[in-house]
Amino acid sequence: MAKPISLEKILFSQGFGTRRYCADLVYADLVKVNGVLADDPEERIAIEGLMLNVEGQDWEYHEKAYIVFNKPPNYECSHKTTHHPSVYSLLPSPFVERGLQCVGRLDYDTTGLLLISDDGQFIHKMTTPKKNIGKVYEITTPEPITASQIEHLLNGVVLDDDPKPCHAIACKQLAEHILAMTIVEGRYHQVKRMMAAVGNHVLNLHRSEIGAYQMPTDLAQGEWRWLYPEDLKQLSQSVGI
Ligand code: URA
Repeated sequence: MAKPISLEKILFSQGFGTRRYCADLVYADLVKVNGVLADDPEERIAIEGLMLNVEGQDWEYHEKAYIVFNKPPNYECSHKTTHHPSVYSLLPSPFVERGLQCVGRLDYDTTGLLLISDDGQFIHKMTTPKKNIGKVYEITTPEPITASQIEHLLNGVVLDDDPKPCHAIACKQLAEHILAMTIVEGRYHQVKRMMAAVGNHVLNLHRSEIGAYQMPTDLAQGEWRWLYPEDLKQLSQSVGI
């Protein structure tokens, strides 16, 4: 069992503000610990199964945050955005405060599966090209997808910034204009550039899987959910980390 931690430190670790601000939240009667109003920021609390309520918002304690997010279109995966609002604006503010980062970015117009965490090691392992982690993209095209385009994608296409070809690891045609393509790298606009290189284009792009982890079917666009140890185990086993 982990050592109990002071309430003030716990609130700070979860992203509720500076240590001083967190203590003031307690003094202002704005914090409940497992349903009971707290009055002492120095009180040591057991973190196992801890449920906080801060300013009326229920908050599960997680030492490290791992979340799955269903990204809507027209949001950028960046804290400092240029033309569109940030995906972080759709998440609770403690996540931003505690430094959550996207595990690999999607383009502003791409939708679907996005993992977000504040565990630097996890982010590194999931994004390093060495790990060859498969990511499945569902691509909707304006032109019918042909067998020769699929063959070309599987054999590898050369993109203009790198003589080394990019290969699709798998392609499954889902409809005349829809292709599910698995790639392992994460080059800039990779799917869009691969599709253009074979003479087609991308109308819509949606990421549905990372490793063996699939977007939960009941997670609506713009919603997020915690990943629990069972989810992380499934994910790490499937990607070998
Ligand atoms: N490839 C792209 O072109 N865009 C994405 O968002 C992801 C992969």
